[in-house]
Amino acid sequence: MKKNELIFEGNEKQVFSTENPDRVIFRYKDISVAYNNIKRARFIGKGVLDNGISAILLDYLNRNGVKTHFIEKTGPDEQLCRKIEIIPLEVIVRNRIAGSLAARLGVPEGFRQSNTIVDLRYNNDELENPLINEHHAVALGLISYPELEHMFREARKANDLLRALFHRAGIELVDVKIEFGRASDNGELIISDEISPDTCRLWDEETGRRLDKDRFRLDLSDVVASYREVLERLENIKMES
Ligand code: TMP
Repeated sequence: MKKNELIFEGNEKQVFSTENPDRVIFRYKDISVAYNNIKRARFIGKGVLDNGISAILLDYLNRNGVKTHFIEKTGPDEQLCRKIEIIPLEVIVRNRIAGSLAARLGVPEGFRQSNTIVDLRYNNDELENPLINEHHAVALGLISYPELEHMFREARKANDLLRALFHRAGIELVDVKIEFGRASDNGELIISDEISPDTCRLWDEETGRRLDKDRFRLDLSDVVASYREVLERLENIKMES
């Protein structure tokens, strides 16, 4: 399917319309941004790696009963997706406590808690994407209570599946950020956007080495090499389903 007009330009990706009004093409750029767009850099080759990783992960979720917007990879840095109406919420599932939550709760980075934590964030740059709760999301008219229940259930299922998949690649899924949208063709609530080292924390199981966007956030070296390693390790897993 051919790309038509650019309908959305984000920091890290572009979205194009196609001849089918219910289909779009996502194009991943070689840009990383962090800390609410304060930090920005170009990494040659990152778009291709993000596209490759996201395609593997979203396809894996689709095949295992968790619906996502992904349809197929259409080029090195492009993928065909179902068109969705964006819901400005982020669900973060945390298997360990790291990053902003470690700072917020005053626990060490990588703290192993006994439960799986599910956070909800309001995707709003002006407000610096605050943590909110279910009632706030409903009050803002963004979503209904039954939809929230569905969203949390799907996010947990996705986390369980991804955690098991990454484990087979010798990688620990520390946390994952998942976004949802309403499909333009039938309104169903599905996972949208990317799932990649930009939206997960991924640590090597043996050494604890970070293989994700924290390399950029924390000014560590080898950002692209780490993303490449994640892609290669995923490609080397024999996919059973
Ligand atoms: P946090 O610990 O900084 O809240 O991040 C939790 C997870 O969400 C982590 O894997 C990184 C991801 N994330 C995004 O995908 N986009 C963002 O804007 C932020 C702040 C985090």
